[in-house]
Amino acid sequence: MYLSVANHRIPLHDGNSIPIIGLGTYSEPKLTPKGTCKKSVKAAIDIGYRHIDGAYLYQNEHEVGEAIREKIAEGKLQREDIFYCGKLWATNHDPEMVRPTLERTLKVLQLDYIDLYIIEIPMAFKPGDEPHPKDENGKWIYHKSNLCATWEVECHPYFSQPKLLKFCQQHDIIMIAYSPLGTCRNPVWVNLSSPPLLKDELLNSLGEKYKKTAAQVALRFNIQRGVVVIPKSFNPERIKENFQIFDFFLTEEEMKDIEALNKNVRFVELLMWSDHPEYPFHDEY
Ligand code: A2P
Repeated sequence: MYLSVANHRIPLHDGNSIPIIGLGTYSEPKLTPKGTCKKSVKAAIDIGYRHIDGAYLYQNEHEVGEAIREKIAEGKLQREDIFYCGKLWATNHDPEMVRPTLERTLKVLQLDYIDLYIIEIPMAFKPGDEPHPKDENGKWIYHKSNLCATWEVECHPYFSQPKLLKFCQQHDIIMIAYSPLGTCRNPVWVNLSSPPLLKDELLNSLGEKYKKTAAQVALRFNIQRGVVVIPKSFNPERIKENFQIFDFFLTEEEMKDIEALNKNVRFVELLMWSDHPEYPFHDEY
């Protein structure tokens, strides 16, 4: 598959296509100044990103919508040039809640449609306005749901998912890798037992060889295997850096060496919910 800045969409079964790199937009709301998300999405679109990954839960979905609409108004692109992925949060899993929750996202974005709507986590919480409901003893309040667990997949050189990827390839399913740079390492929800991905010796030495950073090598590894990546950055230099991955090729041997880094350890392990009856990570993927 030849990928370039101008053409990096991969075809899907239904005739649609998905750009192989998207901008992630999750940033701790309390620590992120208002407007940062909007600025970052606009910068990303100028650089050439055409895929934005967001969610109502992130509390900045309105900024994503504003950025996309302003770029369309500037005549830079049309709505159909952008691929937006939104997410259904755990308190809205009941089938009758899906449509109104999606409609709320459309209203917040002020867009007519989104391109992909996914189940954010395959474990339901008590429906209501509180996204992380707890009882008076501080215990999580779970909710029963009947899920066919269609879910996106953490994937990066330390968790490269060879078995799942092979299954997806055999069945013509495109995989989207979240946390492709190894997350922001926030100890509240990230398992820090694995060392920081971007400090990895091999990724850095390959970076030196190609005059690229470890982050660019980690992203290139996945897109070269046909895996879509959604690195989050609100830093203009890094948004640009993460898109400069279409002008070098890793050799087959280098791809194998990176595959061998797999530690089979998730950064996003969500252990605080491991007693949820639908906790997904007891199962092998
Ligand atoms: P920032 O927004 O300040 O750039 P992931 O996509 O795996 O969840 O990783 C996101 C984290 O990695 C964020 O903390 C982001 O911070 C940081 N990040 C994004 N791009 C790069 C890069 N090219 N080099 C180093 N860190 C990066």
